[in-house]
Amino acid sequence: MVPIALTVNGRAVQALVEPRTHLADFLREHCRLTGTHLGCEHGVCGACTILIAGAPARSCLTYAVACDGLAIDTIEGFDDDPIMADLREAFSREHALQCGFCTPGMLIAARDIVQRLPDADEPRVRVELSGNLCRCTGYRGIVAAVRSVIEARGKQPSTRETGQGTAPATPFVAFVPKSDGSAAPVAPAAAPDESRQGWTRFEEAFVLRKPPATVWNAFADIPAIAACLPGATLAEYDADAVKGKMSVKLGPISASFDGSAVIEREDAALRGVIRGAGRDRGTGSRTRGEVTYRLEPEDDGRQTRVLLSVEYSLQGALAQFSRSGIARDLGRRLVADFAANLNARLAGEPPRQRSSAPLDLGRFVRMWLGDRIRRLLGRGREQ
Ligand code: FES
Ligand code: FES
Repeated sequence: MVPIALTVNGRAVQALVEPRTHLADFLREHCRLTGTHLGCEHGVCGACTILIAGAPARSCLTYAVACDGLAIDTIEGFDDDPIMADLREAFSREHALQCGFCTPGMLIAARDIVQRLPDADEPRVRVELSGNLCRCTGYRGIVAAVRSVIEARGKQPSTRETGQGTAPATPFVAFVPKSDGSAAPVAPAAAPDESRQGWTRFEEAFVLRKPPATVWNAFADIPAIAACLPGATLAEYDADAVKGKMSVKLGPISASFDGSAVIEREDAALRGVIRGAGRDRGTGSRTRGEVTYRLEPEDDGRQTRVLLSVEYSLQGALAQFSRSGIARDLGRRLVADFAANLNARLAGEPPRQRSSAPLDLGRFVRMWLGDRIRRLLGRGREQ
């Protein structure tokens, strides 16, 4: 058993949990909050949607131990929430519920849409709700209810509720440690972009065993870079744009994101930006993202430190991986795999992993969970 301490609907909760306990079971069985429903327990149906640190997430795919220190909001925590009050009334008025099994998850997803997308039209609402399945197939009323709340709130003076667990928007100023122990900004301090509220951001750095000029040229070799990225397959490319596919798997879920990206490079600054978007038709998951990278000499110019800033949003069945602290650890492992492959390629060796194999998120989750449990057990021994 592992000790955890978290906040649920504004109340501090401490518990001992089995590492394998998922958050939905923890909420239902330990906290007695049975408004969180379980449908598929595979991350597909969205019935178990709750807020983690203010962002919607699948509680059936989240281990309770992963939420140590975080704020969780379940449907029971929204009694006094004005957006939820409007949604409850609209769901009732528009006959948006039949058996009601999907309704708690729908309401939490709907509240996120109302907050995040004040201009969402009907097609956009349908896309945003595609990660929440209604087995009674009553989507017309649900979509009408969400649209009616968006419209009604659009006519009110702008007051943006943030929700109990919502974390403040983090300014995108990244500092990563250098080899001499100092810190260097990865990207210029920028005002938080409103359209990117809820995006996941992390910074990472790695060292390649070649000088910056060699690495800069290698980064222009798009097929070589794609071959180093686990799960990536290149379809078309030129100097400024790429199209391709990113395949991921997580237990029973397989997703293949068809996407495209534009590439900008500043030769003088050894700096580049890649902006892209993709969609998986099977799971309805969609992603958008931006990667900024900059090269710095290391070891008197014999090696290169690559400083990365990554921002992305992920919606749909795989949205779990844009939420909570897990995102940074998964990102770090993905970057480490990419760096190992690129170092091998620059040394003329075969890549460590085949890029054509799907990116195994389950492997990352198992490694991440193992690390976390080891840390928790270590902390317990120290006490
Ligand atoms: S029960 Fe979690 S997504 Fe279906
Ligand atoms: S109302 Fe029955 S599952 Fe949606």
